[in-house]
Amino acid sequence: MTTTIKAYRAAILHSIADPAEVGIEQSYQYFEDGLLLVENGQISAVGHAKDLLPALASNVEVTEYRDALITPGFIDTHIHYPQTGMIAAYGEQLLDWLNTYTFPTEKQFADKAHAADVANIFLKELLRNGTTTALVFGSVHKQSVDAFFEASEALNLRMIAGKVMMDRNAPDYLTDTAQSSYADSKELIERWHGKARLHYAVTPRFAPTSTPEQLTYAGKLLQEYPGLYMHTHLSENLDEIAWVKALFPEQKGYLDVYDHFQLLSERSMFAHGVHLCDEECQRLAQTGSAIAHCPTSNLFLGSGLFNLKQAEQFKVNVGLGTDVGAGTSFSMLQTLNEAYKVQQLQRNKLNPFKSLYLATLGGARALRLEDKIGSFASGNDADFIVLDYHATPLLSYRLQQAKDVEEKLFVLMTIGDDRAIKETFAAGRSVHQRG
Ligand code: GUN
Ligand code: ZN
Repeated sequence: MTTTIKAYRAAILHSIADPAEVGIEQSYQYFEDGLLLVENGQISAVGHAKDLLPALASNVEVTEYRDALITPGFIDTHIHYPQTGMIAAYGEQLLDWLNTYTFPTEKQFADKAHAADVANIFLKELLRNGTTTALVFGSVHKQSVDAFFEASEALNLRMIAGKVMMDRNAPDYLTDTAQSSYADSKELIERWHGKARLHYAVTPRFAPTSTPEQLTYAGKLLQEYPGLYMHTHLSENLDEIAWVKALFPEQKGYLDVYDHFQLLSERSMFAHGVHLCDEECQRLAQTGSAIAHCPTSNLFLGSGLFNLKQAEQFKVNVGLGTDVGAGTSFSMLQTLNEAYKVQQLQRNKLNPFKSLYLATLGGARALRLEDKIGSFASGNDADFIVLDYHATPLLSYRLQQAKDVEEKLFVLMTIGDDRAIKETFAAGRSVHQRG
């Protein structure tokens, strides 16, 4: 194979550690005039342009971006692709929202052609927003996941997804059975897990919509295939929590239900975790499980305020999720804008470098993919984005007043959105250019 080297010159910023562990200053690298070298779709070096340019072969093409910032692509650790068409559905909290809007919308994914259309719209939207990896809910239909993985493979994206397992407390048209969910998941795992840059997640929707028998089958799949993910919801809404207590009276708490069925592992992602006690945080940390913090969703559905300090105190891995369609934006920048406000309401400060970490390396770590994505470590996939300092008149004017990269980053995260994403690269290939 011939080697293709490409070089990208701009300001470059990436996280290298969790600010909660090493302090803000040690958590990132920033090159004001930086160079990113990409070799056959992987990062081969990052540094100051003045250091790297002299050693570069004369035939290497250098793409230069002025007034722009290159960062790793964003990692969305919780999102539902079938809910793309029902984002911004008015007026309910979780359980009514599911019954009123979500289930009828997901019914349409029995049709593979519809699923394929939405998968393409969804992926385009992720890339427009600079998200290069996501942990994605399908619908209960296995063809919904085939459609999603086919579209992801065509773009050579690193994506994780799974078929929803749901065998009770949902309309008949949207339920499987414990046995069929096992068989369908198995078929999808055999077909997709480990193919190209794709991974499979065993996906019981949440405890109320699975029988104990189905949760047993979910645990069995995780035992049978190494490296699988487990993706579900946890402690999002107070009525939901009361319902779980009534459905599983023998378990002390919500997390104990999942624990009982052996669903906690290093590759388990629990969306929300808004109402967790200290013991639950401790158990998540012990098992290496992670929480996907989804601020826009938590505010939109009135679910509550995620306690990031508590998660940090117990060293629980945390990623950031948009949770579209309960979440109100595909933009991880806008999701960080809301994350900041969620912490403000609890009298905590979310530092912009911590935000960057949550949206990139923190997500990668929560997904055990930090040796592939989330930073510009050499050998990582070249999944990166170019942020435009002049994306809007206001952004341009506000950034003229910014004194350093920390302030620029915070402004981008507060008033930036899809318009700030000038270009998105996946495995070294440009997959989105803003018009
Ligand atoms: N809990 C169970 N299903 C869902 C869902 O689709 N969205 C959210 N936000 N929470 C859930
Ligand atoms: Zn969700």
